[in-house]
Amino acid sequence: MTDYDFDIPVDRSGMASIKEGKTTEQMRKAGLRSFWGAEFEFKTAPCVIRAGREWAERGLAAYCTADDSYRELVCGWMRMHRGWEIQKEWIVPTYGMTCSVGTLVRAFTQPGDGVIGMDPVYHMTWEPVRLNGRRKVSCPLLFDGETYSIDYHRLEELCADPRNRVLYVCNPHNPIAKVWGREDLQRIAEIAGAHQVLIYSDEIFGDTVYEGVEMLSFSQVTDYDGWIAATSIGKTFSVTGIGQANLIIRNEEIRQRFITQRNRDHYGSFDPYMRAIYFGGYTKEGSEWVRAMMAYCYQNYLLVDSYLRERIPQMRVIRPEGSYVLWIDCRGIGLSGEEEYEQFFEEAMFGCDSGVQYGSEPGFIRMTIAVPAGLVRAGLEALERAVRSL
Ligand SMILES: Cc1ncc(COP(=O)(O)O)c(C=O)c1O
Repeated sequence: MTDYDFDIPVDRSGMASIKEGKTTEQMRKAGLRSFWGAEFEFKTAPCVIRAGREWAERGLAAYCTADDSYRELVCGWMRMHRGWEIQKEWIVPTYGMTCSVGTLVRAFTQPGDGVIGMDPVYHMTWEPVRLNGRRKVSCPLLFDGETYSIDYHRLEELCADPRNRVLYVCNPHNPIAKVWGREDLQRIAEIAGAHQVLIYSDEIFGDTVYEGVEMLSFSQVTDYDGWIAATSIGKTFSVTGIGQANLIIRNEEIRQRFITQRNRDHYGSFDPYMRAIYFGGYTKEGSEWVRAMMAYCYQNYLLVDSYLRERIPQMRVIRPEGSYVLWIDCRGIGLSGEEEYEQFFEEAMFGCDSGVQYGSEPGFIRMTIAVPAGLVRAGLEALERAVRSL
């Protein structure tokens, strides 16, 4: 389909990769790899690898700043890849998405305050919330068996509670792989705006949507500017191990308040390696590579979907719109609780994330599909054998 090597597994050995640790010896011997986490199981883009190599060969990791050329690069990428116009002064570099949540709650909330999130949703966000003495307040998504939607009635009630100062929106929404569109974003902004609730829009997967799906950010759909959009190259090119994010903050007062808290927490240099990676990835070549990578992942989605329909009808994929994870409803295999499901997938040697950690009921899993198709097929075959032996 393309000249890229998406079919070749990446070598994780000797890197203390957490994902590597999720593939047991038994799985390795059987030619299987874990679908845990949201990292590629093939190499990243050649332009990113080249940029990293050239940077290392310069032999200098000097203190550096997010200068004008960097800011222009980020603006240019958002325009080219996402059709999103931002201004360079809106960009606030930080040391990662999760760490920015900690900064955010310290800057804008008091101990005991609530941060609203829509379960099932990315779980690590709640660690800095909890560790900073704030509370997660759940506004569970509604599920009709096919697709998820927002419970606006409950969202309105929660935003009206003055103790809930922040709303965490995940777009594309991990783990369900849904992209919230114009109408949803407008409605969310309307409700948050009416109660002056600050929106933290986690767009870490914002660069990775499937063809034909429109990825929008709040500034493209509403005049309400009580939002922070968190973007990062981490998921775009699977460089997640290096903590870095660019928060986009249009409202100047919010921006200054965030920057003050960020500097209290982590005053220091911009990561020079990460800067090089951005210059390699945020290019036309990088954009084309990401589109090719997503086209490959889409084929993997079709593979999983048709395999399950034909051979394991007890499991169903929720149609994805973005990210490169799949959310799979496995309740049809009829196990009773979280432990039973976990044991089943372990014995099946099908490494994946349990849905419960994201706030879902037992029986849902998340699987990464930025993986060579041969490994996806091998995983599905192992899964089928396990289901048949139930
Ligand atoms: C939705 C979402 N947000 C944030 C992160 C973590 O970002 P960081 O490594 O920059 O803290 C992840 C990682 O999987 C994620 O899925």
